[in-house]
Amino acid sequence: MKIALGFIVLIATLASIAHASDPSPLQDFCVAVNDSMAAVFVNGKICKNPNQVVAEDFFFPGLNKPGNTSNPLGSRVTLVNVDKLPGLNTLGISLARLDFAPYGLNPPHTHPRATEILVVIKGTLYVGFVTSNPADPTQKNKLFTKYLYPGDVFVFPQGLIHFQFNVGNENALAFAGLSSQNPGVITIANAVFGSDPPISPDVLTKAFQVEKNVIDYLQAQFWMNNS
Ligand SMILES: *[C@@H]1O[C@H](CO)[C@@H](O)[C@H](O)[C@H]1NC(C)=O
Ligand SMILES: *[C@@H]1O[C@H](CO)[C@@H](O)[C@H](O)[C@H]1NC(C)=O
Repeated sequence: MKIALGFIVLIATLASIAHASDPSPLQDFCVAVNDSMAAVFVNGKICKNPNQVVAEDFFFPGLNKPGNTSNPLGSRVTLVNVDKLPGLNTLGISLARLDFAPYGLNPPHTHPRATEILVVIKGTLYVGFVTSNPADPTQKNKLFTKYLYPGDVFVFPQGLIHFQFNVGNENALAFAGLSSQNPGVITIANAVFGSDPPISPDVLTKAFQVEKNVIDYLQAQFWMNNS
């Protein structure tokens, strides 16, 4: 009897460890209250009184408008997450509009909390993701790429580094669903070379196996955020 109970506890523990996406809702909805002045912080956002919930809480307008791509990357991500649409709280989902100028790039980045499924509406995108370090140290991280045309759908698995590049000489447009109310984004170059304060060049010269002047140059760049 004791052994069986221990086994159940072990399985339950393993199951909760493996569960790395947003937790499931425990009610129909939990519209986020605007907690920008809150003194306590919880995992997610606290619920508005359900009796005061209105249709507007589940609504966000204006995603027909193109994002401004006049920037060095030539891309703009307009994310509709729980901060923009409070009804998304606890539902484990969000949406993004991606605009690209000709040859615009959404640079290598990861979403720590979400898988992304993308559909191209206009233009041609060269997209890809890289797998995590392989168990066999003689093998390399594997790159998967694809050219996408209007109507094509591609999925970027949770946490993996990925990018989208407009290879056409016209604007491109895509939309993406993300499996978190707050997917987060880590842009690789920004995080590594644009952190505040900067990462010690002693760390980066060894990590990237280059001279200090290369690191100085990279840390001196302006690493813009396109979202
Ligand atoms: C939340 O409240 C703050 C401060 O009152 C305000 O600046 C912000 O725009 C509000 N956010 C939303 C999504 O309404
Ligand atoms: C787009 O962004 C650029 C650079 O920040 C700015 O100069 C321009 O006015 C913006 N365009 C629109 C339509 O907002």
